Amino acid sequence: MEKFKLEVAEAIAKALEKDRNEIIDEIEKPKDKKMGDFAYPCFKLSKEFKKSPALIAEEIKEKIVASENIEKVEVVSGYLNFFIKNQNIVESIMCEIIEKKENYLESVEGAGKNVCIDYSAPNIAKPFHIGHLRSTVIGKAIYNIYKKLGYNVIGINYLGDFGTQFGLVIEGYKRWGTEYNLEKDPIKSLVDIYVRTNEAAKEDETIKENARANFKALENGEAEVTEMWKKFRALSLKEYERIYKILGVTFDSYNGEAYYNDKMEEIVNILREKNVMVKSEGAMVVELKGHELPCMILKSNGSTTYTTRDLAAALDRKRVYDFDKSIYVTSYEQILHFTQMFKVAKHIVGEEYAKRMVHVPFGMVLGKGGKKISTRGGINVTLEDILNEAITKSKEILEEKGKTFENIDEISRMIGVGAIIFNDLKNNRIKDEIFNLEDMLKFEGETGPYVQYMYVRTKSILEKSKVNEEEYKSNNLIFKLLKEKEEVNLIKELSRVKEIIKQAANEYEPSLITRYVIDIASLFSKYYNEHQIIIEDRELMKVRLALVYATNMIIKECLEILGIKCPDKM
Ligand code: ARG
Repeated sequence: MEKFKLEVAEAIAKALEKDRNEIIDEIEKPKDKKMGDFAYPCFKLSKEFKKSPALIAEEIKEKIVASENIEKVEVVSGYLNFFIKNQNIVESIMCEIIEKKENYLESVEGAGKNVCIDYSAPNIAKPFHIGHLRSTVIGKAIYNIYKKLGYNVIGINYLGDFGTQFGLVIEGYKRWGTEYNLEKDPIKSLVDIYVRTNEAAKEDETIKENARANFKALENGEAEVTEMWKKFRALSLKEYERIYKILGVTFDSYNGEAYYNDKMEEIVNILREKNVMVKSEGAMVVELKGHELPCMILKSNGSTTYTTRDLAAALDRKRVYDFDKSIYVTSYEQILHFTQMFKVAKHIVGEEYAKRMVHVPFGMVLGKGGKKISTRGGINVTLEDILNEAITKSKEILEEKGKTFENIDEISRMIGVGAIIFNDLKNNRIKDEIFNLEDMLKFEGETGPYVQYMYVRTKSILEKSKVNEEEYKSNNLIFKLLKEKEEVNLIKELSRVKEIIKQAANEYEPSLITRYVIDIASLFSKYYNEHQIIIEDRELMKVRLALVYATNMIIKECLEILGIKCPDKM
């Protein structure tokens, strides 16, 4: 569509005797198809020409000379609406897609640039809760989006594997460790130990003292406690990895908070040297303009904070990855933390790099009645249980439909997990999400299974046609035969895919792709309900198959970016 946009800009520029580059960015894409393919608002010109926008639009329209691809121009309330000849659009888009095939989305935009994405980041010895699922799913989608644009992306699982609570867990483990089966049920055991020790500490001062001593020892890297901590970490990770495996998520780095234990002194020193810290009630803080709360770097007992560790991590990421962007995906509860951290980061990584750090917040996950799903609820029902339930239910649905695939378990997994991911990415991330398994598993409506089902339809049409793929994946087809309304609408929408991915990257908003792929699926559904694809007329059949193939490829690409697999049967 880019070339048509240029042509439109050219035509306007000529009429106005201006430079094309001044015009191009002003050109919009009308929301309503009735308003044409491009629109040019004349409001800004009103001042310059001292005339009403409507009058200016009329005058420009008069001066526009016929050109190769512009079919007509209309004036509607201060806008010039441009209609491109459908046949030309269809030919140009289809040619490009069919020529590039699976490489259609390839981009070099990000070549040579590193993007760090910090996502998932559960806290060891605690359950992987539903908020971490959101971070994982949104983070992975953003990872894939940047990857598609050609960036070198580094996925970082910044584990919450440090903090005073480990002093307490270690104390409990020393006392009662043998009563628990850590190997079998690590997180449940560690949570139980924590709760029990915390309870006991209320009665017994020595537990608290020991816990503090344990944490100090851990900070100093003393062998016995470090061994225990390592064990807790490894066992927790093993449990998380089962979830990552179900979701198909991997990371390039697992450097968590503990990794920065010996790297915080440098941060404190830098802030001291730059004279930006002040003492406040015994703590060391950086005061921030416009923020009521100062940012705490050292607590009054001298220990560091979550922010101090994040600053150390930021500096490390600058050194190791020289990032073009450093993205953090967490719930909106951490907005204040990141706002403060980024402000202090200016002193640590410099203004330039601090500007490249982005917090990507998301909303809460709510249960059916809009109630908050709490972490505590997550102890009895783990996230793994929820994922497995989605998989089992998908299998039941398939069986109810009388499906007897050999690989029914694998397909159920793709549907169940895909449904959860899709639901997570369906709306603007900042919105709270309703988690209702029954709704998200429906095969119709705006769901993952619906889009997967449309993918399967495209695939089965291509197979049923028995036409050799070289025949419809060919550039020598007569694309102008695609002139039905449903065909033109689908093709125009397909051509937006690259622009959608770019926008999703700029806004850190995977839901743009989710909404887009829903549109593609429903436009395709309209098309194949109205028109036969496998028909007598071979030339027409071939171009129609080419369109089915283009749809198939683009749905697949989009779902893959979202982290969702495409089953080949459903
Ligand atoms: N572990 C934290 C939590 O569960 C999230 C960490 C996010 N990343 C960061 N660099 N602070 O809330």
